[in-house]
Amino acid sequence: MSFDLIVRRAHVATAGDVFDADIGITGGRIVALAQSLVAGPATREIDAAGRFVTPGGIDAHCHVDQPMLPPVRMADDFETGTRSAACGGTTTIIPFAAQAKGGSLRAAVTDYHQRAAGKASVDYAFHLIVADPTPQVLQHELPELIAEGCTSFKMYMTYDDLKLADGQILQVLELARREQAMAMIHAENSDAIAFLTERLLAAGKTAPGYHGLSRPAPVEREATHRAITLSELLDVPILIVHVSGGEAIEQIRWARGKGLNIHAETCPQYLFLTQDDLATTGFGGARCVCSPPPRDKANQQVVWDALADGLFTVVSSDHAPFNYDDPNGKRLGGREPPFPYIPNGIPGLETRMPLLFSEGVLTGRLSVQQFVALTATNAAHLYGLYPRKGTLAVGSDADLVIWDTGQPHVIRNEHLHHNVDYTPYEGRELQAWPALTLLRGQVVWDGQHFTGTPGQGQFLRCDRPALARPRTRSGGWRQWLELDA
Ligand code: URP
Ligand code: ZN
Ligand code: ZN
Ligand code: ZN
Repeated sequence: MSFDLIVRRAHVATAGDVFDADIGITGGRIVALAQSLVAGPATREIDAAGRFVTPGGIDAHCHVDQPMLPPVRMADDFETGTRSAACGGTTTIIPFAAQAKGGSLRAAVTDYHQRAAGKASVDYAFHLIVADPTPQVLQHELPELIAEGCTSFKMYMTYDDLKLADGQILQVLELARREQAMAMIHAENSDAIAFLTERLLAAGKTAPGYHGLSRPAPVEREATHRAITLSELLDVPILIVHVSGGEAIEQIRWARGKGLNIHAETCPQYLFLTQDDLATTGFGGARCVCSPPPRDKANQQVVWDALADGLFTVVSSDHAPFNYDDPNGKRLGGREPPFPYIPNGIPGLETRMPLLFSEGVLTGRLSVQQFVALTATNAAHLYGLYPRKGTLAVGSDADLVIWDTGQPHVIRNEHLHHNVDYTPYEGRELQAWPALTLLRGQVVWDGQHFTGTPGQGQFLRCDRPALARPRTRSGGWRQWLELDA
């Protein structure tokens, strides 16, 4: 067998195993995993020197060049977003093609393909955001887009320009069940947030820290429970995205205990940031304004515990890039806006994998297999990309990361490759960073420099995920209504 490339002496970690092997790569795919592979005359070699080699990350929740209500504008497009992903060990991103209320979902996808074309340097798939489930969307656009490989979509319970009423969510979940698509839900109680926000503003409490107070844990807990209930009524699996702490986790644990098919995602901000980061003096806390907001140290620990015990299916960045010092970003309009007008979201595509490797694996909180499952393999299963993506196996794409765990690496925004003017993790010292990232056998990060090429990233059509299959054949509401009796 001849190889284009051999990665030698890899300490390979998958979601299931850790073993030592050479990795033989031909045509962008892994074709052999064995000790002492024999090089041909044209074979290139990279020496992993016994370091951990994991699958390239899948960041299954990130926002890149997503159209916002003017004047808000995202700082990263597909060029800078995927560059940053590659340098942080992520080789597949799944951002969102977002329908506008009153707009067409199909048009949003067409527009999003144009935004990505020629720019992406890692592979990408699209989730959809369903903001307006009209008959046209439910009967035509959504089933057709699912058939074309966009097999997952997000629904919002909050944000005026995106949110769906419970009845609309049920309609879309019914479709998810029929089409075997993966439904993601942003769970926060919109009316409660509006009420609390109004009271805070009336009391003159407008600083960024009040963002956190306006969306306390019960607001997320209630909506999480409601989302679980809607899922139960139809017997359709859902993923609760960006779970922030113990109250929502309790609901998910309860649902799992009942045998319900509920998946959960968390993000680094809920492991590394707290409400104190929002409430720093002045306007600086705007950098950490995201929803749900970071909670406190005790909640961070609950999230770590839930990662370790298998409650969470995935860790995603929820990268939502807005510049801090920018009239189209956090300082909207060139001022320091009251908290409800601060664009929500923080950057994190490049730091997700190193944060979790350093503070999860190297501290012993997570096994390296759990790390791989949470950052790559499970996302591939959830979104219909397995086994092409998310593992190191014969036949899989040669997307991998060689980890440098020898020396301290201090996070500095000036060293990151996104287009955002800050990182919420500035100055944090990690003990791990990617020494090399391969995308389909091509080096896209060499430990010093981005070496990829805009346009080399390919659009991935997702299969209908096996994890989106309902538990029962008729199930759900038909059973509740005794229609099958
Ligand atoms: O604050 C956040 N998370 N912004 C991004 C949009 C979302 O809800 O995921
Ligand atoms: Zn969300
Ligand atoms: Zn998001
Ligand atoms: Zn560089």
